[in-house]
Amino acid sequence: MMQFDTIVRGGNVVTPIGTSKTDIGIVGEKIAAIAPDLAATPNTKVIDASGHHVIPGVLDVHVHLELPFCGTVSADDYRSGTRAGARGGVTTLIDFAIPYAGDSLSDAADNWMKKAEGKAMIDYTFHICITRWNEHKDQIKGMVDRGFTTFKEFMIYESEGWQSDDRALFGTLEKMKEYGTMLLVHAESARVLDELIARHHTPELMKQYGAQLHAMTRPNFIEAEAIQRVVMWSEVTGGQLYIVHMSTGEGADIIRAAQKRGVPVLAETCAQYLVLDDSVFAEENGHLYACCPQVKKPKDIERLWEGLKTGEVSVISTDTCTFDREQKAMWQGDWTKIPMGMPGLETLLPVTYTHGVLKNRISLEEMVSKLSTNPAKIMGLYPKKGAIEVGSDADLAIIHPTAIQRVDPAQMETNADWSPYHGWDLAGFSRTTLSRGDVIVDDYCVVGREGRGQWLPRTTAGWQ
Ligand code: URP
Ligand code: ZN
Ligand code: ZN
Repeated sequence: MMQFDTIVRGGNVVTPIGTSKTDIGIVGEKIAAIAPDLAATPNTKVIDASGHHVIPGVLDVHVHLELPFCGTVSADDYRSGTRAGARGGVTTLIDFAIPYAGDSLSDAADNWMKKAEGKAMIDYTFHICITRWNEHKDQIKGMVDRGFTTFKEFMIYESEGWQSDDRALFGTLEKMKEYGTMLLVHAESARVLDELIARHHTPELMKQYGAQLHAMTRPNFIEAEAIQRVVMWSEVTGGQLYIVHMSTGEGADIIRAAQKRGVPVLAETCAQYLVLDDSVFAEENGHLYACCPQVKKPKDIERLWEGLKTGEVSVISTDTCTFDREQKAMWQGDWTKIPMGMPGLETLLPVTYTHGVLKNRISLEEMVSKLSTNPAKIMGLYPKKGAIEVGSDADLAIIHPTAIQRVDPAQMETNADWSPYHGWDLAGFSRTTLSRGDVIVDDYCVVGREGRGQWLPRTTAGWQ
């Protein structure tokens, strides 16, 4: 008889072959059996999951922790960020290692390793950011050999020293094709955006419109043109492309058409683009919501939910880049000076579950695809991560189908002292989170050990 260290008993378990009431037996860090009525021995820890959904731990594949950005450093580090993730059922995150000054790609990875070591409670890896094509292009293969299979380029952020031009995008996609790796792209059209910002950057308009200028200077075509252009580079090179934080209906239309033509392009959206629209910028503290790209219009929200259903949107992530109120106050009325980004790790699963599954926009299984299975497959981590399957890591989130918690930043693990969802009633916070067999959240409280999280080497990426 198999001896289990842990049995998760009687939950509604979402597996790749269907959802059913069953038990999960765990030995060490792995799932060892999935069957009803597994036998416990005296040393087996039994976790009662009856009346709950049991889903694979969530992968948030778009996270920035302790990021130097916009003249400050994002407020969630690997300690608070991974605690927040654990509470939200996230068991794997992928951050972005960005080279600074004269850094090589390898230096960037080393820097991000140091940020995570001793602090991370959940498993992690990094997308490697290519910010200076001429210097970095010959370092890409070395990073693949080091276990990094996803790279990132930004089409904006010239002032940060991060911006890539078409030459870099084209050349990187050629290399992605050659190495079987994937390029993630932040797609916004830099030159036209600069022009629109310059036209609006007057004391009169800033006094009149405040944070609303963030949305006024980023019409949907800013994202759509950039997506269209980089999709073209993917089409002609055959390099695997992944559009991060897609926020527009136009973007979804372009991705759908490109995928139909056989272009190797995938798209992610983020929870905020599915539930918030740009009316938030007219609120008293509207500047808090500023991120790039910004949340858009109700019609974009509907189109992105449709894209999740029909398939052109494969992943929901967060783009967590937390700034607290004091940091956000640096704007002093000038929207171009707002530290751009929002907290999100802790609320990804609750927001998606409450506004997706409970509102019948997507099924429980579709939610698991977008939060766990697809990100694991696309980022080269499946079936170790993203599945409740024999042999997979025992990464699980156990959620009550209807029990609600009111979002209150004072009760949260994130270092943010505000939340885009403050006062919202959300179901889907993790009652119990397991990471490689360890209980890291128990009865909605984080109990895991900081520093137990492991770096995840990879050999593949893209839609295999
Ligand atoms: O506003 C954002 N999104 N901040 C993080 C950097 C990025 O563009 O992802
Ligand atoms: Zn971005
Ligand atoms: Zn980002």
